[in-house]
Amino acid sequence: MTTTLDVPKGLKGLAVADTEVGDVRGDEGFYHYRQYSAVELAEKRTFEDVWYLLLEGELPDEERRRQFMREVAPLRTVPRAIEPLLDEVARTCLSPLSGLRTVLSHLAAVEAMPASHGADRSRLLADARRLTSVAATVVAALHRRSRGLEPIAPDDALPYAANYLFMVNGQRADERHARAIEQYLMLAVDHGFNASTFTARVVTSTGADFGAAVVAALGALSGPLHGGAPSLALESLDAIGTPDRAPSWVRDAVARGERIMGFGHAVYRTKDPRSEALRGTVEELGGPRAELAVQVERLVEQTLAELKPDRPLQANIEFYAGVLMEQCGLPPELFTPTFAIARVVGWCAQALEQAADVGIIRPSARYIGPPPPQPVPAA
Ligand SMILES: CC(C)(COP(=O)(O)OP(=O)(O)OC[C@H]1O[C@@H](n2cnc3c(N)ncnc32)[C@H](O)[C@@H]1OP(=O)(O)O)[C@@H](O)C(=O)NCCC(=O)NCCS
Repeated sequence: MTTTLDVPKGLKGLAVADTEVGDVRGDEGFYHYRQYSAVELAEKRTFEDVWYLLLEGELPDEERRRQFMREVAPLRTVPRAIEPLLDEVARTCLSPLSGLRTVLSHLAAVEAMPASHGADRSRLLADARRLTSVAATVVAALHRRSRGLEPIAPDDALPYAANYLFMVNGQRADERHARAIEQYLMLAVDHGFNASTFTARVVTSTGADFGAAVVAALGALSGPLHGGAPSLALESLDAIGTPDRAPSWVRDAVARGERIMGFGHAVYRTKDPRSEALRGTVEELGGPRAELAVQVERLVEQTLAELKPDRPLQANIEFYAGVLMEQCGLPPELFTPTFAIARVVGWCAQALEQAADVGIIRPSARYIGPPPPQPVPAA
C-alpha cells in the first residue's frame, strides 16, 4: 500500500468516498440530493418525500408516500424506559444538542441497535427511520421539560414538520409556518461531505451501530464552526439594529479580526443556494425582521467585498435560518437542534451507503515529531 503524505489541510478538495446520496458544486452555487436539485425538491415536495428519496433512492408515488408516513409516524414515540433520563438530561444539559446526543445514545442501547457490520439492510433501514423519527420528539421534550412544561405527545395525524412545531409549542402551527419549517428541514438534510457526515461514515465504516454513527455526527455538529451560527447571525442582526449601521458594524468587526456570522462558506464561491431559497420564504412570511435581514444581507456583502476583495463572502444558510425559525415561533436555543434533526436524515442515508461498502476508513497521519527510535531514558 502506498501512502500519500501531501494531503491538503482539512482534506479540502479530496474525494474520500463514492456516493449516490448527493453533492455540492461550490462554483455553481448548486447542490443536489440523488439526481434532483435540493432547492427544487424543497419547492415542490414534502419532507417525507425527501427523507424517502435519501433512504430508498427514489421519490415515492402518492400511495407509497402515504404508506411511508403511516409507517414512520408511530416511531416518534419516546420509550417509557428512557423518560427518567429525559428529565435528568433536561435538568442538567445546558444545550439541547448535547441533550439530544445523550438521549439518542441511550435509546440506541435500550433498543439494542445492532452493529451495522453483518446486519440486514432491512434492520438498518428500520434503525435509520427510528432515529430520524424520534429525534424531533426528543428535542421538543427536552426543550419543554427544561422550561418546566409537560412534553407534548406526537400527533400521528401530522406530517413531520407540523408535528415538530406542535410538540414544541403545544398548539397546531399555522400552515404557512409549518410549510416554512418543512422547507428549511428539506434544505438541510444533506450537504456533501461536511465534517459531521464524514464522521457518521467513519463510525459506520467500523461496523458500529447507527445510533453510534448519529451520536458521533451530533458531536461533530456541535462545534461552533459547523452548526452554531444561526443564533449568532440573529444576534448580529440585533446588534446592527438598522441597515445604515451595517457597513460600519462590519468594518469594526473585521478590524477586530472577527468573522461575520452567517457569511462565507467552505465550498461555495458564489451564492449559497440555501440562503437564496430561505430568503424567499422569509420574505413571504414578512415582518420587520425579514425586511431588515434582506437589506443587511446586501450591505454586509458589499462591505465584505470591499474589505476582502480576494475572497467571495456571501450569505450562507445560517443567515436566514435564524430569521425563519424565529418567524415560525422557535426560540434561538432550538435553532441548531432543528438543523440537527433534519441532518439525521442525511447521516442515516450516508451510513446506509457506507454499511453496504465493507471496509474501514483508516487514513494515515504524517509523523512530524523527533525521529524515532530514541533511546528510552532509564527510570
Ligand atoms: C464558513 C467558514 C468557516 C468557511 O471558512 P473557510 O472556507 O475555511 O475560509 P477561511 O477560514 O480560509 O477564510 C478565508 C478568508 O475569508 C475571511 N472570512 C471567511 N469568512 C468570513 C466571515 N464570515 N467574515 C469575515 N471574514 C471571513 C477569513 O478571515 C479569511 O480572510 P484572510 O484571508 O484575509 O485571512 C467561514 O466563512 C466562517 O467562519 N463563517 C462564519 C461562520 C458561519 O457563518 N458558519 C456557518 C457556515 S454554513
